[in-house]
Amino acid sequence: MKDASPKAIYLSDYTVPAFLVDEVHLTFRLHPTQTRVNSRIKFRPNPDAKDKTFYLHGEALKLISAKIDGTAISPHITDLGLTAQVPDAPFFWEAEVEISPSTNTALEGLYMSKGMYCTQCEAEGFRKITYYPDRPDVMAVFTVQIEGDEPVKLSNGNPISDENGIAKWHDPWPKPAYLFALVAGDLIAHADTFKTKSGRDVDLNIWVRKDDIGKCAFGMEALKRSMTWDEEVYGREYDLDLFNIVAVDDFNMGAMENKGLNIFNSSAVLASPETSTDGNFERIEAIIAHEYFHNWTGNRITCRDWFQLCLKEGLTVFRDQQFTGDMRGHAVKRISDVLTLRARQFREDNGPLAHPVRPESFVEINNFYTATVYEKGAEIIAMLKTLIGDEAYYKGCDLYFTRHDGQACTIEDWLKCFEDTTGRDLTQFKRWYEQAGTPRLRVDEEYADGSYTLTFSQSTPPTPGQDQKDPKVIPIAVGLLDADGREVQETSVLEMTEAQQSFTFEGLNGTPIPSILRGFSAPVILERDQTNAERAFLLAHDTDPFVKWDAGRALGKDVMVRMVVDDTPPDTAYLEALLSVARDDTLDPAFRALALSLPSQDDIAQTLFDGGQTPDPTAIFHAADTLAQTVAQHLQDILPRLYAEMAVEGPYSPDAEAAGKRALQGRALAYLNRMDGGTQAKQQYAQADNMTQQMGALAALLWIEKGDTQNAAFYDQWKQDRLVIDKWFAMQVSFAKLDQAAPKAAEMTAHPDFDMTNPNRFRSVFGALAGNTAGFHDPSGAGYDLMADWLIKLDEKNPQTAARMSTVFETWKRYDADRQDLMRAALQRIRSADGLSRDVTEMVTRILS
Ligand code: ARG
Ligand code: ZN
Repeated sequence: MKDASPKAIYLSDYTVPAFLVDEVHLTFRLHPTQTRVNSRIKFRPNPDAKDKTFYLHGEALKLISAKIDGTAISPHITDLGLTAQVPDAPFFWEAEVEISPSTNTALEGLYMSKGMYCTQCEAEGFRKITYYPDRPDVMAVFTVQIEGDEPVKLSNGNPISDENGIAKWHDPWPKPAYLFALVAGDLIAHADTFKTKSGRDVDLNIWVRKDDIGKCAFGMEALKRSMTWDEEVYGREYDLDLFNIVAVDDFNMGAMENKGLNIFNSSAVLASPETSTDGNFERIEAIIAHEYFHNWTGNRITCRDWFQLCLKEGLTVFRDQQFTGDMRGHAVKRISDVLTLRARQFREDNGPLAHPVRPESFVEINNFYTATVYEKGAEIIAMLKTLIGDEAYYKGCDLYFTRHDGQACTIEDWLKCFEDTTGRDLTQFKRWYEQAGTPRLRVDEEYADGSYTLTFSQSTPPTPGQDQKDPKVIPIAVGLLDADGREVQETSVLEMTEAQQSFTFEGLNGTPIPSILRGFSAPVILERDQTNAERAFLLAHDTDPFVKWDAGRALGKDVMVRMVVDDTPPDTAYLEALLSVARDDTLDPAFRALALSLPSQDDIAQTLFDGGQTPDPTAIFHAADTLAQTVAQHLQDILPRLYAEMAVEGPYSPDAEAAGKRALQGRALAYLNRMDGGTQAKQQYAQADNMTQQMGALAALLWIEKGDTQNAAFYDQWKQDRLVIDKWFAMQVSFAKLDQAAPKAAEMTAHPDFDMTNPNRFRSVFGALAGNTAGFHDPSGAGYDLMADWLIKLDEKNPQTAARMSTVFETWKRYDADRQDLMRAALQRIRSADGLSRDVTEMVTRILS
């Protein structure tokens, strides 16, 4: 879709819909290039609307006929929709349009993936299916008829009948068009049932192509656990007799919560021990839970407009994080969530794409399905819960569910529920939704005569369009340790509301060591002058697993920064601290695996930039390599034992305990491999009966350039399995070093299995290139050029995925003048490409500004 005139839409311009819809009847006559969609829609004027214009969205549709109350009309049609004269009373609209699913490579609206019909309507894809008021505050009851030869034809809600090639579906729950879904193809189901707490029997199906039927069991178990968890924790029950999930190979995102018919990227649902890593299993469990939880937070209660996207996404991410914590352990889950938050959201919040969790304007809403809306949105819920306490939190949620069931809501509606149940004023708290940027939290401390004072100052740097920031409400969880590592003050939550504020603890016997921001109680950057000795102390003694881990991370960052800046050799305090972590078998293996991982190269680049220096990715690469080698040497005596101790007996199981042991074993292997020239990795590769170990061994070998045989064998073994081959593509690019990365990525695009129209495969190559920090930023600029070439090519077919991938350039201002020139040129070349989409135009313009 080419659209030459991108136009911004503003939250402040919101008006209610002119017409409301009671009923929608859709009939699809499926055909790859000439699908007919007949719609009969019962409209009525909205008494609350001032503007009475009848406007329906519609894009890339061929209108065959239109009628109002049975009389043919000729509406006024533009590229984006139509207007018509209508009665000032309820009426039936009927239209027939023609669309071409097989040529729809944008994967939005109705499209085809490997011979199967499927849909993606969020956010604004329904307008590519038929003319409709495609906005989330128009909710209606849908009846759907699907005609075609496909053996399985699905839509939302309950099946009415399926005979003579005609399937009929009815969804009793009013919903916005973005939750509409249709699937048709040659599919089979992995079926199960679930009894809800009030005794309703629900049929559950995961629909897949025949070859994938063996990869559904884990997803089904995860679904049932999610259903139980939502009943137990939030009191939310499922509300239909049927819940369908479908796996689709070509999908722009992870998955979609369409009412009663969730559609998943096959990478987000299909799992087997042989083909999926522990990380895949955990991600699948989380996404299944996420989409299921949307049934209440998203579907029963939806968003008034797309500016409110965080209302459903932030809350649902928070809920899936709680779920994973309950399933797998909260400490490790919190650490991995913070790692992602810092790597993606802080990076976004500190660059040209920074935007509030609730944005005030957008050109293309698909560009706002971001780490900020999702992950920072979830952090806001977590802070709210910390501030008001668990009991008040669930009471407020209950009120939200009863007060707003069936409605399309705003952030104000959400917050009001908590104001009403707690009596608190949340006006200042709401700034978290409105002001972009990551707050910096400076800490100073003072001790005298048993009294210890922490003074915090907060400030948030300017972000695009927002120069001034006001102080936020920051929950700061603090505990105090004495010099022997005993906890002398349990965790208490300090509630900071001013720009600067002091908090005093009395009755201490000596200067304590503070443990600040326990559990990462707020999404801020803590600025504190801290010695490496104190960091090592916290890593050794803190009772809070997050601060314990983070102290080690801060130590690691300090070491790497010094290595880059003035070649300081790695601090022995750090090496010794890692050694004690590696030795300490009272610690959870999963925690030890995290603590033994080094900071990422991108993290070091951002840290240097924040400290006023210009990061050199090549120098950072060499520092990271040297540090890993030094750690390997320092740990070498215990590595073989650690590796052996972490062996998991018996058949593979993806549970947290076994996965944690494998994670630590994998860490041990990565270091060991640097010392033994690949002996252990080759052995592991040969013996592996699961993808975690097979891939871990191959990655280790590729890193030391000793894996040619295994690399070829891996491809050969898995060439029929597209999800595994995605991993293989990514590994080729991830482990190509420095100036070899871009040529390797180019080579992969020429591989017979490369298919740019498949988002997973495209991301395997180009996500890996971008994630290879030093390779992408090679001073030749080859990485930038290749990326630009392919973003331009992809944009012609799939603007949404191209726009998302363009964020690889969001950090361009961190770097030296030469790299900046090269990146600016690449971005300008993209921007001037012929017929560039609205999606990529908006992104590149914002990145360049
Ligand atoms: N609502 C989906 C989820 O988070 C994401 C759909 C995003 N789609 C899009 N076109 N941006 O579960
Ligand atoms: Zn979601």
